[in-house]
Amino acid sequence: MAAHLRVCDEKTLKDGDIMGFDYEVNIDNNTSKANKRLLIAKIGGKIYATDGICTHQYADLSVGILNEDEKTVTCPLHLSAFSLEKGISLNPPAEEPLKTYEVFIKPEDGGVYVSLPD
Ligand code: FES
Repeated sequence: MAAHLRVCDEKTLKDGDIMGFDYEVNIDNNTSKANKRLLIAKIGGKIYATDGICTHQYADLSVGILNEDEKTVTCPLHLSAFSLEKGISLNPPAEEPLKTYEVFIKPEDGGVYVSLPD
């Protein structure tokens, strides 16, 4: 069953906003933890969630460039652009896609939640 991670309040996220969100996951049969980072972006009222670190080298995509028309984020280090909808890299040097995640709003608390697979 997927875990649901609350990343922010919906009302704090405006169109054109981009942010990172750090979280921990259990690894090695729950004997240790690893740090992970998500990228959250809002375009035209829709919220996207992908992995927050570039697949080429270690670069934080939340300080990259958001293109609202193309629905992409461009890595600040070597300028590969990634689709926020599909996660795919649109130009080199990055080749591997970012993982993309389902996002939903809980009306009970107005929170933005990201579904993480097990
Ligand atoms: S680190 Fe992102 S394109 Fe190189």
